[in-house]
Amino acid sequence: MVVQFHLGTEKSRGNCGGGCEISIDSQKIHRLIGRAQNYSMKVYLDGKLVEKDDAKVSVFDHGLLYGDGVFEGIRFYAGRVFRLDEHIRRLYDSARAVALTIPIEPDAMELAVLETIRANGLQDGYVRLVITRGVGDLGLNPRLCPTPSIIIIASKINLYPEEKYEKGLAVVTCATRRIPHGALSPMVKSLNYLNNILAKLEALNASAGEGLMLNEQGFVAECTGDNIFLVRDGALTTPPISSGALAGVTRAVVMEIAAELGIPFSEPYITRYDVFTADECFLTGTAAEVIPVVTLDGRPIGEGVPGPVTQRIRESFHKLTESTGTRIY
Ligand SMILES: Cc1ncc(COP(=O)(O)O)c(C=O)c1O
Repeated sequence: MVVQFHLGTEKSRGNCGGGCEISIDSQKIHRLIGRAQNYSMKVYLDGKLVEKDDAKVSVFDHGLLYGDGVFEGIRFYAGRVFRLDEHIRRLYDSARAVALTIPIEPDAMELAVLETIRANGLQDGYVRLVITRGVGDLGLNPRLCPTPSIIIIASKINLYPEEKYEKGLAVVTCATRRIPHGALSPMVKSLNYLNNILAKLEALNASAGEGLMLNEQGFVAECTGDNIFLVRDGALTTPPISSGALAGVTRAVVMEIAAELGIPFSEPYITRYDVFTADECFLTGTAAEVIPVVTLDGRPIGEGVPGPVTQRIRESFHKLTESTGTRIY
């Protein structure tokens, strides 16, 4: 006997033919299908969902040869994608800034993200969305790469252990400076992350959780994969984008939360002195979420423990992730 169900967003009802009626929650069906399929992960590659082992790109793709491409990291919580529009907008902005034309429209890209998560039956996780320049020859010329590739991977991520969210991170200042706007805008989330990776290595060598990156003028830009916030006398600050920070989606969410909680907020130029003398410090990022920082270069920030403003912002952030977002199922 074959029972067919229409998988809507509400409960689906089916008739088993023998007089009995079956009522099944469509979300559960999607999850079950996904779990069964998940033994082999499905990856979106240029319009098709393929097995993980078949998700391959050419060695002549300039994304590989030159780091020529752009990407996004997106989280989803409890069956909803958090700030999907904002991530997709930044993806298309990054692409535009490097003269890369993404072959599908933003709406279709959103649908592709949702479809990929559904195909893997996930409720909570992380999406890596990559656009490469495409296949070309061995020269630099991007005009010889006619077709950009679109890759969407839906998986899980666990950046820091829970203990770090409770006790806070140690951060060190990196010698590697954040790439200047005149070289490559730090606002472009490009596939070329060597600047950040070299700084990350410094942080790892110092056994620190993150590395603080300064710009050419010595002002604080951001961390290797996160934006930075300070609290002093109850007011919140973060470096302006012009200092060399990525316009973080989580950074923007924290600004909204500050406005809602009535916490004064500004974007002044920030130096290491400001970090050393802050009452509290925390980092934001899609993968890291909101995480306290308790030391910079071995010196305690404030009391050297996560502070109350950080805690309030973390709580508000988690409420938002649990209650908002684009529905997947
Ligand atoms: C260099 C850098 N800064 C900041 C961030 C935080 O941005 P978002 O909150 O959009 O993840 C990221 C992560 O994407 C990053 O790679």
